[in-house]
This record gives sequence, C-alpha cells and structure tokens, in this order.
Amino acid sequence: MSLTVVLWLILQVYCGVCLVHSENAAGEKSFYIANDRFYKDGSPFRILGGDIHYFRVHPQYWEDRLLRAKSLGINVIQTYVPWNLHQPQPDRFNFEDGANLEGYLQLAQKLGFLVMLRIGPYICAEWDFGGFPAWLLAVQPKLRLRTSDPQYLELVDSWWDVLLPKIVSYLYSQQGPIIMVQIENEYGSFGSDKSYLEHLVTKARAHLGEDVILYTTDGAVPELLENGTLKGNAVYTAVDFPVEWEPASAFALQKQFNCPGQSPPLSSEFYTGWLTHWGEEMAHTDPEFTAEALDRILSLNASVVLYMLHGGTNFGFTSGANTGKSARDFFADLTSYDYDAPIREAGDLNTPKFKALKAVVGRYIQESLPDPPPLPARKAFGPVQLEKLLSLFDILRSVSMVPEGIQMYEPRFMEALHQTSGFILYRTTLPSHAKGGSRIVIPEVHDRAQLYISDPEFGGREQASKKYMHIGTLNRSSDELLLPSSAAVPGLQLDILVENMGRVNYGPFLYDPKGIISSVLLDGKPVHNWVAFSIPLDSGPPKIAGLVSNQNTRRPLVKDTGNWTDGPAFYHGKLIIDEPADTFLSVAGWSKGLAFLNGYNLGRYWPVKGPQCTLYIPAPLLHAGENELLLLELEEPSNTLIVNFTDGADFSCKGTM
Ligand SMILES: *[C@@H]1O[C@H](CO)[C@@H](O)[C@H](O)[C@H]1NC(C)=O
Ligand SMILES: *[C@@H]1O[C@H](CO)[C@@H](O)[C@H](O)[C@H]1NC(C)=O
Ligand SMILES: *[C@@H]1O[C@H](CO)[C@@H](O)[C@H](O)[C@H]1NC(C)=O
Ligand SMILES: *[C@@H]1O[C@H](CO)[C@@H](O)[C@H](O)[C@H]1NC(C)=O
Ligand SMILES: *[C@@H]1O[C@H](CO)[C@@H](O)[C@H](O)[C@H]1NC(C)=O
Repeated sequence: MSLTVVLWLILQVYCGVCLVHSENAAGEKSFYIANDRFYKDGSPFRILGGDIHYFRVHPQYWEDRLLRAKSLGINVIQTYVPWNLHQPQPDRFNFEDGANLEGYLQLAQKLGFLVMLRIGPYICAEWDFGGFPAWLLAVQPKLRLRTSDPQYLELVDSWWDVLLPKIVSYLYSQQGPIIMVQIENEYGSFGSDKSYLEHLVTKARAHLGEDVILYTTDGAVPELLENGTLKGNAVYTAVDFPVEWEPASAFALQKQFNCPGQSPPLSSEFYTGWLTHWGEEMAHTDPEFTAEALDRILSLNASVVLYMLHGGTNFGFTSGANTGKSARDFFADLTSYDYDAPIREAGDLNTPKFKALKAVVGRYIQESLPDPPPLPARKAFGPVQLEKLLSLFDILRSVSMVPEGIQMYEPRFMEALHQTSGFILYRTTLPSHAKGGSRIVIPEVHDRAQLYISDPEFGGREQASKKYMHIGTLNRSSDELLLPSSAAVPGLQLDILVENMGRVNYGPFLYDPKGIISSVLLDGKPVHNWVAFSIPLDSGPPKIAGLVSNQNTRRPLVKDTGNWTDGPAFYHGKLIIDEPADTFLSVAGWSKGLAFLNGYNLGRYWPVKGPQCTLYIPAPLLHAGENELLLLELEEPSNTLIVNFTDGADFSCKGTM
C-alpha cells in the first residue's frame, strides 16, 4: 500500500464522509465547503450573518427588520426554530402568524438573504426551557433530555417528522435560501452523549439529504469541542467565543475539529451585546470595542454571524431563565431581548454600535449598502388612567375563568396538570396544629409563591375587599416563613399563588417543572388535601370585562392586625388613538405583573426589580379607536393607577427591593 492510501484510510476512519461535499462542487445552486472556504455556486463566499429570530419580532415587522439587516451588509440570516412554539401540545402544531416559519424563509429569500437554520431540538436562546415544550416535563418516567434516552428520541423524531419535510424545499440545492442546518446547540457545554448527536444527524440527513451542510456550534475550548462536535460524521464544526478572545487561535482550534480543507473559519455567535436578567443592570457593551473585535475576525477572511443582530422581544411567557451553582440561584430573563444589539428592540439604527459595525463592514465589501427603511412611526400617547376590575381570587370564586379546582392530596406540579404557563393557586385549610410562629416551608417552589390567609366562611358569602392577609412571598432561594399569630387560626384558608417566571434554558438544571414540586411543610409535617386552580393565561386575558368588584369593605372575622389586601388584581383602561404607532408602556410605579393589550400578552413587568420599566408595543398590536389595556398586578398598584405610553425604552428602573 502506498503512503497516500494509508493516509487516505486514516482519513476515512477519522473523517470518513468528510469529502462528500466536495463532490457536488461545480453545480449551479450549490453551497459547499472546500479549501477551508465556503463556496456558493462555485465562487468563494464569506458569511456576514446575523441572528434575527422570527419568534421575537411581530410578523408584520419581519420585513422591516430584515431590510435593516440589509443596510448593514448582512447576507445570511441565522435563526433558531423553537419546538415549543410549533408544538405547544403533543397533539397540536402551530405554523401560523408569528410561527409561520415558511413565511419567514420566503421573505428572507425574497429580500436576497441566505439562511442558517438552527433546528435544535434544544436551542437555549434565552427562550423558555431552551425551546423544549413544557409537556415533556409531564412524561413518565422522567425524560433524560438531550441524551439518547429512547423515549426522548422518539418525541424528537416525531417532531422532526413534522418540521423537516416543511423545510426541504427551502434548501439551497432546491432553489431555497437555507445553506446550513445546525444540530443541537453548544452541546459540548452540556453532555458527551455522541450517540444522541449521531441520532440527530442521521434523522436530519434522512429528511434533508446528504448534500446539505449540517453544523454544530460550541465554545472555542478543547473540552467543549471534544464533546459537542461530530467531524467523523461529516458535520461541520463552527465555534463561538467572547469578543475579547483572539479569533486566530479560536479558528486554529476550530480547524482541529474539522476535517482537512473543511474548516472555513466561522464565528457563528459573535456577541454584539448580552442578555439581561431581572435585577441586573441593562447589558451594555462598548461599540468601538465590539467593532474592533469584528474587524479582527473579518481581517482573517473569516465568516461571522452577529448574535444578536436584532434581539426583539420575549412577548408573553416566552422568556427563559438561568441558574447559578444551584437550581435555587434563579435568574429570570427580561421581557425585552434588546440585547444591546446594533438594531435595537424597536428597530432603531441610529446608535453608536450600528454605526461602528457598519464602518467595519464597509471596509470589507465592495457593493454600496442600501438605505434602511424609515423607522416605523412612534408616538408617546401619554398617560392612561386605569381602574381596578376584580381581584384574581374573587374571579376564582365567581366566574369560570379557570377550570374547577383539582383536588389533590399533595401539591402537584404545573405540567402534571397539563398547564404550560402562568400561575397555579394552591388552596388548603390550615391544619389544627397551626399556631403563631409556626414555620411554613416549601422546599421546592418554582418560582415564586405569594401566601395568603383568609376566612373561607366569610369569603364564601360576601364579596368584600381586603379579606386576604398577605403573610409573605417565598421563592426558590428563600423557602420559609413564620405564621403570624393573627393568622394562625386552624380552619382558615391558606392560599399559595405560585408564578412560573420562565423555564431554565441553559445548564445542568434545565429540567425545570413549575409550581410546587415538594410537600408544603407546617412545623415539619406535610400539609395534605389541596385544591389547585390552573391560571395559564395563555390564550389572552380572562374575559372579565363587564364584571365589577363589590366595594364592601367589611373584614373577615380574624384579628384585624396584619397586611390585609384583596390580593393580585386586574386593572383595566382604554387607550384611544387616531392612528396606530409604535409605543412603549411605562409601568413605573407599578410592582410586578403582566400586561395585555387587545388580548395580546405583552409580557411580564417588574419595575421594582428593574432594570426594564417599559414594555415595547409594536404598532400592529394597536388599532385606531379604543384599545383595551389590562394589567394583572401581583403586588402593589401605582398610587395613581396611571400607566404612561411613552416613545422610548427605559432600562433605568433601579428597583426599590
Ligand atoms: C466531556 O466528556 C467527557 C467524557 O464523557 C467527560 O468526562 C467530560 O466531563 C465532558 N466535558 C464537559 C465539558 O462536559
Ligand atoms: C484574505 O484573502 C485575501 C484575498 O484572497 C488574501 O490576499 C489574504 O492573504 C487573505 N488573508 C488571510 C489572513 O488569509
Ligand atoms: C427571593 O426572596 C428573597 C427574600 O425575600 C429575596 O432577597 C430575593 O431577591 C428573592 N429572589 C428573587 C429572584 O426574587
Ligand atoms: C406587613 O408588610 C410589611 C411589608 O411587607 C412587613 O414589614 C410587615 O411585617 C407586615 N406586617 C405583618 C403584621 O405581617
Ligand atoms: C409620561 O411620559 C412622558 C414622556 O414620554 C413624560 O413627559 C410625562 O411626564 C409622563 N407622564 C406621567 C403621568 O408619568
């Protein structure tokens, strides 16, 4: 055997199928890798990409945001595909409106972009549960997510059997925009189950064919790349790394995890900014520093994808969360996914970062860049007076906004009740051993529990306000309180309202069911016999218009000391306008809750925690005339009950807690 053959055999073992892509090199409509470069239709091609996630932008603004990308010289749009958006229930699929993936692909192509599609099934993305549907958490025995657990793979397969046939005709080889398809996401940061990754590759190739470039993205660190990449399966390895890092060494490392000639340098997540959690300062990265980092990458003739090019908004209940060293250190993501990206949440380009990045890009491309479209009209519609409609607890008593309570011996978690989002109210009766100073502990509550005592006899007969005594708020890291003596009357009702603040989307504590996951202990003894009310609020706000709360202020027959309240409540107001325009809802002065506009869930607000104190409202959510605003305020409303529609985002809420 000649030396060449021996080398060839060794190559076959280590990168057996590596050479496949070169074979279709010459064709029309071909996108392939050779000589450590990307080639499009036979000519070298540099990816100047950016992430814009269709699921974070109102569909009527997709075109606007993509045109803004054009004006920065972007030629490839990268996006994830969130499984939970498209298969919200095991038997329900959604590809309509904001979930119209094919519409987004068609639009991208019409505007002259190529697409890098990141199909997961896990996507991270600061998105609820990293894109996994919540119903996976109800499967018994517990799924081992992101492994080759056969039951998990079966569910992934049946999802991909729906998704992948939809995207085949959008592959570049089929005259579509998709040049590359990413498998999983930064898998090397999580596990080392190569047969799981291999299963995904086999499944993807079965649907998409052998020609399409499959890729992985992992941090540019040897251990991460060892566990997350699949060069032996002809899967191209891309890397991501902090902007501070020296790109030449990252690309040299990338090369070790690609077959010879198959390693076009690609930073597939170039961080233009960063994510922000509630309670942190809003992310801000220096424009010049970011631009210099981009320049270093482009000067190496490398390809790059800006993450994020335009972040958008985590509307509704879609934002994710992170954990620290323990699952108890819990940090929920903001509703805004502005990310300090060059194209801001509401489309603004007039920023130092956009200008600095554009100046760099301009040095590397020949063609002149098109002007961006004018910014959509924006207006400060001003203050709107809200009025209180009803307390959440009164609604549970009086209208069928939620199904009947579910009886249970021990509290059950949210997904076991077939519920995805929102709240669960767990209700029980204080047991006979309750006394002043009794210790209530909820060892595992995801994520935040507001506890109230009330007199059921009284409450059942009368619609009086302020009949609930708030005895404390617990969360994942602060799980116990002492029962005040005024509330320690056996037979009184104990209500625990538990909020799902967004599922963990990254790291070892990804398996994150919501609600109460443990027993509730009173002086060390489990409390039994609960009724749970599901309050998912996922199909818009409850239909409560027209109901008025009774203003009777009689108090229940327990001692009068303590913090009396009528608990979380809905507040309602009308924004009357001549013409829709982009605007921001300022909730400064309010505490914590949710806002619905014309039935659309704008997302969570929490100005007392900060830093976000406005919610972005794209014009397509408004109409001329009367627009209905509904807040569910969980704690204290503003003194004046006023909200303010302003013309700019405000991330300066410092918080008072
Ligand atoms: C990579 O996989 C090895 C072998 O399974 C494991 O010991 C190691 O901890 C993994 N590394 C990371 C970063 O997960
Ligand atoms: C980049 O490409 C140009 C043109 O092909 C070439 O002259 C230059 O040497 C390349 N630079 C690097 C760092 O590869
Ligand atoms: C949990 O509760 C403790 C005590 O009230 C508080 O200090 C902490 O900030 C809370 N954590 C979150 C995430 O709200
Ligand atoms: C009432 O609430 C305040 C503020 O949360 C707290 O400091 C006080 O201890 C509470 N009073 C009682 C009697 O629970
Ligand atoms: C509403 O916001 C505007 C700025 O857009 C500000 O000038 C005005 O004082 C605010 N009004 C109230 C009532 O907060």
